[in-house]
This record gives sequence, C-alpha cells and structure tokens, in this order.
Amino acid sequence: MSKLTRRKFVKTTFAAGLAASILPTDRAVGANSDIRVAIVGFNSRGKGLISGFQGVGGVRVAALCDADSAILNSVADDLDKKTKTKTQRYTDVRKLLKNKDIDVVAFATPVHWNGYGTLLALDAGKDVYVEKPVCHTLQEGRLMLAAARKKKLIVQAGTQNRSDVGMRAVVPDIQAGKLGKIEFIHSYWNKPRGSIGKVAGPQTPPASVDYDVYVGPAPKKPLMRKRFHYDWHWQWDFGAGEVCNLGNHQIDLARWTAGIDRLPDQVFMFGGRAYDDDGQTPNTVLTAFLYNNNVPIFWESRNMPAQPGKKGSDPIMGTTAAIYVKCEGGYFVGGRGGGATCDNAGKLIKKYRGDGGISHFANFIEAVRSRKHESLRADIAEGRISTSMCHLANISYKLGKVAAPDDNCYTKQIEAAKTNPYFASRWESIKAHLKVNKVDVTKTPMLIGAPLQLNPKKEVFTGPADIAKKATALAAKEYRKPFTLPG
Ligand SMILES: NC(=O)c1ccc[n+]([C@@H]2O[C@H](COP(=O)([O-])OP(=O)(O)OC[C@H]3O[C@@H](n4cnc5c(N)ncnc54)[C@H](O)[C@@H]3O)[C@@H](O)[C@H]2O)c1
Repeated sequence: MSKLTRRKFVKTTFAAGLAASILPTDRAVGANSDIRVAIVGFNSRGKGLISGFQGVGGVRVAALCDADSAILNSVADDLDKKTKTKTQRYTDVRKLLKNKDIDVVAFATPVHWNGYGTLLALDAGKDVYVEKPVCHTLQEGRLMLAAARKKKLIVQAGTQNRSDVGMRAVVPDIQAGKLGKIEFIHSYWNKPRGSIGKVAGPQTPPASVDYDVYVGPAPKKPLMRKRFHYDWHWQWDFGAGEVCNLGNHQIDLARWTAGIDRLPDQVFMFGGRAYDDDGQTPNTVLTAFLYNNNVPIFWESRNMPAQPGKKGSDPIMGTTAAIYVKCEGGYFVGGRGGGATCDNAGKLIKKYRGDGGISHFANFIEAVRSRKHESLRADIAEGRISTSMCHLANISYKLGKVAAPDDNCYTKQIEAAKTNPYFASRWESIKAHLKVNKVDVTKTPMLIGAPLQLNPKKEVFTGPADIAKKATALAAKEYRKPFTLPG
C-alpha cells in the first residue's frame, strides 16, 4: 500500500469506525462499516438513486422496496446480477423499517409517501434521503424537521442542484455583490406535457401493485387515471403539480441564491389546467412569492407548447428552464448544468459549468458518518421551506376565483404585484401564450389565486380571516388509518 493510499485508508477507516460507534440506534454495524442503504420506489427517479448511492464509496444498496412487485423484481434482479449479491426485497416499507441492518432509507415515491415514509423511517431510527417535494403539506414538513432534530438523525432533501458545481460557484459570487444588489429572481421551467386523458370510470390498479400500501395515508377513492405510474403527479391526493415538481428545484435555487431562509410574507398563483382530463393540478401558472425587506421570487411554468401541435416550449432569456437573477449591474441565467453572468447590455461576464449535482449523495453520506446535519447541502430545514413555498402557491390556487377573460376583474392584490414591471410583462406574456394555444378561458377557466398573507416566523396565515382559515386547513391533512402519524 502506498503512503498516500494508506493514510487515506486509515483516515476513512477511523472516520467510519467513529461514526459507527455513535450511530443513533442499536442497529448492527457491518463488519466492513459499509453504510447500508434501502431505496424505496424506483419506477423512474429511484433508479437514479440506486446508481447514485452505488457510486459512493463505503455504501451498499442492501435492500429495495417498491409497492409494485413487477418493478421490484425486475430492478432487484438486475442489481443482483450486476453486484453478484442478494438484495433484500420488500413491497411494504413498514416491514423494511423493522430491518435493523438498514442504516439509511431513500424515498423516491409519490409525494404522499415521501414525507410520511420519512416520518416512519425517522421513528425507526434511520437516516433519510428524501426526494423533492419532501412533504405533502406544510405541517408534514414541520414534523419532519422536528423529528430529525429530536432523534438527531440526518435528512437530506433530493434537491441535488444545490450540489451542482456551477451553482455552488455562482451563488457566492452573486451574494458577494459581484453584480450589485439583486432586484428580483424569476424561476421558470416550460415543458410541454400532453393531456393525461380522461377515463370513463374507475380503473383497476395493475395486479402487481399492493394498492392499499400504494395509497397509504391518502384517501382511498376510485382510481381515475389511465397511466398508473407517474401521472399521480397531477392529482392532489398523491402529487402536488408542476410547482412541486420542476418548480421545487427552481424555487429552491432562487431562494438559496437570494439567501432567504424563511417562508414568504405574501403568495399568490395565477393559472389553470388547460386540458379537460383526469389531471387536477394547473399546467400553466405564474406565481409571486413576496418578502418584506427582501427580493421577490417569481415562478412560471407552461406545459403547453410555444405553438399548438409543435414540440418546443417558450424560451425565457434564451432557455426554457432556469433561474434569471436580475441584479443592478447585470444578471445570471442558468441552473443545473451551468449558466452565465452578463452585464446589463448582455455582454458575457463569466460562464459557470455545471455537473448536475452528482456529489449530492456523497455529501449526504459524509453527514451520515460525521452526524453533522450542518454539513448537508440540502438539510431538511432547507428542503421543507422550499417545498412549503410550492404548497403555498397551490393553496393560493385552490382558494382562487375564476378570472374573467379581460383584466377588469383583477383584485387589488394582483394589481399591487403587477406594479413590478417585470412581473407585469410576464403576466402579459402568459396571456398571449394562452391565446396562441387557443385556450378559451370562458370554457377552461384560469384562476386568480387567493392573496395569501403569512406571519413567516410563526408560519401562520394572517390577513382576511376567511382566507386565513381556509388556507390553514389546506396546510395540513388527515392520514388514512392505519397509516397514521407516528408518535
Ligand atoms: N430530484 C430529481 O431530479 C427528481 C427527478 C424525477 C423525480 N423526482 C421525484 O421522485 C419521486 C418519484 O417520482 P417518479 O417520477 O420516479 O414516480 P414514479 O411513479 O415513476 O415512481 C414511483 C415509484 O414508487 C412506488 N411506490 C409508490 N408508493 C410506494 C410505497 N408506499 N412503497 C414503495 N414503493 C412505492 C411506485 O410503485 C413506483 O414504482 C417524486 O417525488 C418526484 O418528484 C425527483
């Protein structure tokens, strides 16, 4: 063994041994001090978690759990073949959590299971990596943070863009004032998605799915969607729409860049679902998160194409997915995978090359070993604030009023937000986009979201009592028995 390799070996082994001695539970530690990870849910994103964790030294993907046994067996067979080991298989996460040999559980499930599963895993003494959106309600996010701290467990949100090397370089530059003061941040992701169709009646779940476990804490209603997997994203009981999907990434980047560590003081979302299908969440939205004494953050997304029948979507500042950070002396446009700063005349200042944030898994495992949640790049304290912002936008939308096709019905609140000339220009642009896509707003109504007001410190709704009361109710939910909250 060379000197350097040996030193590295001793350091790693010592760190691993020390971490093992202070792991928070009585679980057995493997002879070689590997961190043993279980992945839950891997129809699509979860596959990336399997390979991501396999790429981190000293980590073993020891168990797989999916409520769909066909997916479970296909992915586990592949993994066993590649690793020449026998991965433990589960269809019910509650059984998996009884396994004392598992140190870490990673969730890539529908939203109604991400946060709830995390709470169960924390109760069982496991560290957790949880995909965005990390929680299904604001209340769930608060419970996750409290449980993680109480049990001294490590929870990383799957907002891997916080580990992107380009973003990690540009955020300090912006915060150091290299472009002057930030004026506003516009986060956006325009991605055409077709209609999910409309079924004539209740559907039968695939025979390979344990549907009771899949539905879990959500209300058990007739299954009303054609494609079983993935399209839950657009139904409220299981998902939370595009703002909590692609928006969660971009809003998180915007908030991080602005150095804001709390919920906004005011929120509203304008938008609608321009398809008559089984989807419930809006597919064209414009949102404002307003902060007293800090910069506004806007979120915009369009799931219809730039031209009807065509593939491409509308670019903003030359790209369809980015954060546009407008500062006094210039701007940044970019995100995961890179970006650039320019002066106000559009002249390039600096390019930032990104890597998609692949070191996010290693960053999490380092914290699992050191037990220091402060070293996480997307600690649950951050993850739950960004996801909660997305839920606030949805709450505003759910409490919204139908917008008339002309501007005359806009409330005072919206007029106030439109006094930001940039936001007003986005408003006009999105109206033009609806027109190009021949959306008849008399038949497919767009909603003017309720203007939510908050006391961000206490995280309670203020303002008009009727709106505050309804918003408070939507910030929590009931859990279907026996899938009740632990503790
Ligand atoms: N970080 C990223 O870049 C990124 C990218 C894509 C998706 N995601 C997130 O990953 C999560 C999963 O999204 P997806 O697109 O892969 O969804 P999907 O529907 O394709 O896959 C979800 C899987 O979870 C399984 N599942 C559902 N309930 C379960 C339970 N109780 N126990 C075990 N398995 C269960 C399903 O059977 C399915 O295989 C979402 O939160 C999504 O937002 C993150």
